[in-house]
Amino acid sequence: MGSVDKRAISLVLISWVTLATTSTLIPVRECGKGVPAPTSVTMECDGMSHGTCLLEKGKTHRLIAEFTPGVSSSRLQSYVAWKSWVEMPLPGQNSNACQNYIDCPVNQGTQTNFTYPLEIQNFWMRRRYPMIWKLTNQDTEETVLCFVFRIQIA
Ligand SMILES: *[C@@H]1O[C@H](CO)[C@@H](O)[C@H](O)[C@H]1NC(C)=O
Repeated sequence: MGSVDKRAISLVLISWVTLATTSTLIPVRECGKGVPAPTSVTMECDGMSHGTCLLEKGKTHRLIAEFTPGVSSSRLQSYVAWKSWVEMPLPGQNSNACQNYIDCPVNQGTQTNFTYPLEIQNFWMRRRYPMIWKLTNQDTEETVLCFVFRIQIA
């Protein structure tokens, strides 16, 4: 086999690895000073580009935010938005976190997972999006978890 052939084969392998969906630790920022942030966030990415998770249209990518709630609650509301110059809430999102994405009640000081299957619908344009995700205690309107991150629709 010539060296050109070998190179062609490794290029094929590299692109296959990049496209496979893998649970990846993604970089996130806190929403502000003193606003509760996650200990880690992983997402099923089709690869990473400069610290940004690549997502594919028409597919569902699971996000897991691990956090330690500062309060106990059995009524948590989830909210996710595209954080442009105005916040544009994602259409079709389900805000009832306790019924769907978290084992409730959450207990103060106990590590908890928020697991959300994010569906990338076809109306998304192929570009990079800054996102904000928030969990709110519905009884007090207090923010229980908040983080900012980026995704790229590939
Ligand atoms: C949260 O999810 C991660 C990844 O699946 C897992 O390793 C961890 O044990 C989970 N933690 C809790 C508190 O369920």
